[in-house]
Amino acid sequence: MANPKQAAGARAADLVEDGMAIGLGTGSTVAFLLERLAERIRREGLRVRGLPTSRRTEEAARALGIPLVTFDEVAALDLTIDGADEVDSRWNLIKGGGGALLREKIVAAASRSTTIVVGEEKLVPRLGRFPLPVEVVPFAARPVARALEALGCRAALRRDPAGAEFVTDEGHRILDCAFGRIDDPPALEAAIDRIPGVVESGIFVGLARRLVVGRADGRVEVLDRPPSA
Ligand code: A5P
Repeated sequence: MANPKQAAGARAADLVEDGMAIGLGTGSTVAFLLERLAERIRREGLRVRGLPTSRRTEEAARALGIPLVTFDEVAALDLTIDGADEVDSRWNLIKGGGGALLREKIVAAASRSTTIVVGEEKLVPRLGRFPLPVEVVPFAARPVARALEALGCRAALRRDPAGAEFVTDEGHRILDCAFGRIDDPPALEAAIDRIPGVVESGIFVGLARRLVVGRADGRVEVLDRPPSA
């Protein structure tokens, strides 16, 4: 059986055009994007500059020989390609399963267009089966957890495999919030943003312009955002 993430990640690399400044997302699907992008750089002489959304992506891109830039060198990006943990029927997203949601949202917001690469298992009618990551300043983790629970979830402080508190690239913590079905993602995003101590939530609204979906049978669909989404 084909790997839907691999199929989607590799196909998305073919959407990159010569000369582009691109945001490089984070995660296991993006890892396949990076590999194929590096191959295109080697074989076709493709000229791109990548702005990574995490240290993990930065290290992988460097090891593959993908040229990197920062916001000191580029004001805007032509395209960002990133993964997601869930995509609903209106193209709202949950992101942050890999802990990189803050830089991911900043980079997507600085991009003229954002393409999301997923295996088909990430497509859901409504968000919420995947616990929503919320990035918080360490000092505020407990009060923010209580405020989030008052919005109707169970909030758990993320830990790394060794049991230590998970620390983001920006030195913050993550609360994984099991909301169950999220009926109104924009309203929930706004409510979470109002809690003092919240840095960013993993709800992404209106940022995805194109979806690259890998199917289990090896097919890949490239979908442009419908006006109704
Ligand atoms: C990283 O923080 C997330 O937003 C990723 O984009 C997401 O978790 C990607 O998932 P995969 O590893 O399944 O591609």
